[in-house]
Amino acid sequence: MPSANQTATAPKKKTILDLQQMKDKGEKAVWVVAYDACMASYAEKAGMDMILVGDSMGMIVYGYPGTVPVSMDMSIFHCQAVRRGAPDTYIIGDMPFGSYHESSADAVHNAVRFLKEADVDAIKLEGGVAVKDKIEAICKSGIVVFGHIGLTPQSSAALGGFKVQGKSTAGALAVLNDARAVYEAGARCLLIEGVPEVVTAFVAKSLPIPVYGIGAGVRCDGQVLLAADLLGMYEAFTPKFSKRYMNLAHDVTNAFREYVEEAKAGAFPAPEHMYKYTGDEAELQKLFADYKFQL
Ligand code: KIV
Repeated sequence: MPSANQTATAPKKKTILDLQQMKDKGEKAVWVVAYDACMASYAEKAGMDMILVGDSMGMIVYGYPGTVPVSMDMSIFHCQAVRRGAPDTYIIGDMPFGSYHESSADAVHNAVRFLKEADVDAIKLEGGVAVKDKIEAICKSGIVVFGHIGLTPQSSAALGGFKVQGKSTAGALAVLNDARAVYEAGARCLLIEGVPEVVTAFVAKSLPIPVYGIGAGVRCDGQVLLAADLLGMYEAFTPKFSKRYMNLAHDVTNAFREYVEEAKAGAFPAPEHMYKYTGDEAELQKLFADYKFQL
C-alpha cells in the first residue's frame, strides 16, 4: 500500500543495494541536505534519491558559525522531522562533532540512536584514517555508514578554515589514504567534499562503492547540495561550487516586507481572510452592550 506521499507510479524507497546498483550501471544518485518535514516532503515529491539531515543545521537552522555545537539530540529531532516529511526516501543521519570521537563504543551507541529513534537508513561521519576504527565498529553493528572526507567542516579549525583539500600532491595523497581507510573500514558509500575533480574522479573509478561529491566535480557517482544553498536561502555564505536554482532569501524578504506594509496599513487581513459570525446580530450587540471586562 503506497503511503500518502507515494503516487501509484512512484518508486519504492531505495536501499543500499539500489545505490550500489546505480553506481554499477553508471546512474547518478542525487541527494539534498534538509532538516525539516516540509522541505523533506518537497524533496520526496521531486524524486530525490536521498536526503541527508546534515549537521550544517548548526549554521542554517541555529545560526552558529559552524557545525561543532550541534548535539545528538538536535540531530535526532531533525531526522525524526525529515522522516515524517519523507517516509519513502532514503535518509542519512549526520553524526555530530563529538558523537563518535571518544571511543568505538560511544560511536556505536550514537549511531544506533539514529536508527532506533529516527528511523534513518544510514549514518554519515567525517574523517578517514583518523576514524577508521570507529567506522569499522559501526559497520560491524550492521549499520550502513557513509564516509565523508576532503573538506570536513567539523575539523575546519584544524584545517585552518573551510579550505579546499587535495590541491597539492601531498594533499591528494591524504585524500586517497582517507578514501582507502573509509572503504577498508567497511563504509558502503563515500562523500568527498571540496576536492579537485581529478582526485575525486580517480577515487570514484578506483573504489567499488558509490563515491558522491559536493564541490568535488562531476566525474563521480552523484551529487549532494544543501537545500539552503540551491534555493538561495542562506545569505551568509554561498560556496563557489553551489548553484542557486532560485533566490528564496530575496523572495521571502519581499513577501515579509509586503506583509508588514499591508498589515500596518490595515489592508491585511482582507474580507476573504476573515471568519463570519453566524449567530444572531441583535443578540451579539446586546451581549457587547451588557458585557463588562474586569480590567
Ligand atoms: O552537514 C552537511 O550539510 C554536510 C554536507 C556538506 C554534505 O555534511
